[in-house]
Amino acid sequence: MRLSRIRQTFFSIHLLGTSYCISSCFPQANNLPLGEGRDVVAKHCTSCHAADKFIHQQKSKAGWDKVIIWMQKMQGMPTPSTRDKETIIEYLTTHAGQ
Ligand code: HEC
Repeated sequence: MRLSRIRQTFFSIHLLGTSYCISSCFPQANNLPLGEGRDVVAKHCTSCHAADKFIHQQKSKAGWDKVIIWMQKMQGMPTPSTRDKETIIEYLTTHAGQ
C-alpha cells in the first residue's frame, strides 16, 4: 500500500519532469517560437547548435529539406523518421519560411 503510493508519487514527478523537459533538456531551443512541432525541432536541431543558427533564416520547403539533408550528410545528424522530418519542415516553413 505504502510502496504503491511512493511509486505513484515518483511517477507523477517523472511526468511533470517530461513536460518541462523542452526548456530544461534543450536549453539551446529557448528561442524557438511556440507552435506545433517545436519539441521535435528542439530534439533534432538544437543538440549541436542553438536555434539562432537557423530560426532567423527564411527558406522554402525545398530549402529546409536541403538543410536537413546537409545536416545528415555533412554534419552527422541522425536521420529523423519520415514523420519527424515532415514536422520539422512544416514548423520551419511556418516560423522561418519565405
Ligand atoms: C550533429 C550536429 C548537428 C545537428 C543535429 C544539426 N546541425 Fe545544423 N549545423 C551543424 C554544424 C556543425 C553546422 C556548421 C556547418 C558549417 O557552417 O560549415 C551547422 C549549420 C547549420 C546551418 C547553417 C547556418 C549558417 O551559418 O548559415 C543551418 C541553417 C542549420 N545548421 C540548420 C539545422 C537544422 C534545421 C537542424 C535540424 C533539422 C540542424 N541544423 C541539426 C551541426 C548540426
